[in-house]
Amino acid sequence: MKDIDSILHALPEAISHTFGKGKPADYIPALAEVPRDRFGMAISTVDGQDFIVGDAKESFSIQSISKLFSLSQAMHYAGEKVFERVGVEPSGNPFNSLSQLEFENGIPRNPFINAGALVISDILLEHLKSPKQDFLDHIRRLSGNLDIQYDERVFRSEYDHGQRNAALAYYLKSFNNINHSIAQVLDFYFYQCSLNMSCLDLARASRFLANGGIDPVNDKKVVTPKRARRINSLMMTCGTYDEAGEFAFRVGLPCKSGVGGGIVAVIPGKMSICVWSPELGAKGNSLPGMHALKAFIEKAGISVF
Ligand code: DON
Repeated sequence: MKDIDSILHALPEAISHTFGKGKPADYIPALAEVPRDRFGMAISTVDGQDFIVGDAKESFSIQSISKLFSLSQAMHYAGEKVFERVGVEPSGNPFNSLSQLEFENGIPRNPFINAGALVISDILLEHLKSPKQDFLDHIRRLSGNLDIQYDERVFRSEYDHGQRNAALAYYLKSFNNINHSIAQVLDFYFYQCSLNMSCLDLARASRFLANGGIDPVNDKKVVTPKRARRINSLMMTCGTYDEAGEFAFRVGLPCKSGVGGGIVAVIPGKMSICVWSPELGAKGNSLPGMHALKAFIEKAGISVF
């Protein structure tokens, strides 16, 4: 795997032209304070090796990447029933869009848009005894990092500026697609988004998706092989929102992004990748991150296609 290391180390230079072309998320003010010149990338292979470059060990706000872990946990507890309350189609709309919900009777298009993740949070509230702690434990176990914490400032900032998510949650409830109180659902959802993790933590935590649902380091089954396939499919079609077509075209890997600037990508059977750089393009995905993934797969010559 010497190649992976040298390809990785050439990336910061190869994508340097993309800096200054996007901007960090500012609708959650605490996220706008992160230095925009950060860049890190980590790879975890299914045979247990890690490769890192740049700021790969620096923690950042995982934001919507948390939707991967909430979905995998919800599928573990509720199985296929999850998809009676959330769809599996790309939305073609921004991640926080309200309009589709009205036409589609309160069934979010997929579990990765905010409306879908609010329903997933509601499902998890039914199954977890101490939802926040159980979710944190799930993430800590998967990443092998017991120091992972949530960021109180980001959590507060999400709350103070969370009117759209609140609107989505109320709207979902009007269609009886939320069973718990709006306050409980938002509190749990914002908590998930405000966890801080590094690229290395995230690459390790998503390794099970590259390995048929089994964490290759401890042999623990996280989800069944069929569910791992389904999560990867959803990442490919819905993981980067209304830019999923562009990602499939340019990167060609299942990806899940967050407005903290992180993107997790999976190469089934081989490795999971996490790249982080805070400047986002117009659709809320890291611009340098997308370019780094594209450059990586082109240089490494590996793809799902
Ligand atoms: O709820 C929100 O809007 C944020 N906490 C998460 C959105 C997000 O990360 C979308 N990803 N690109």
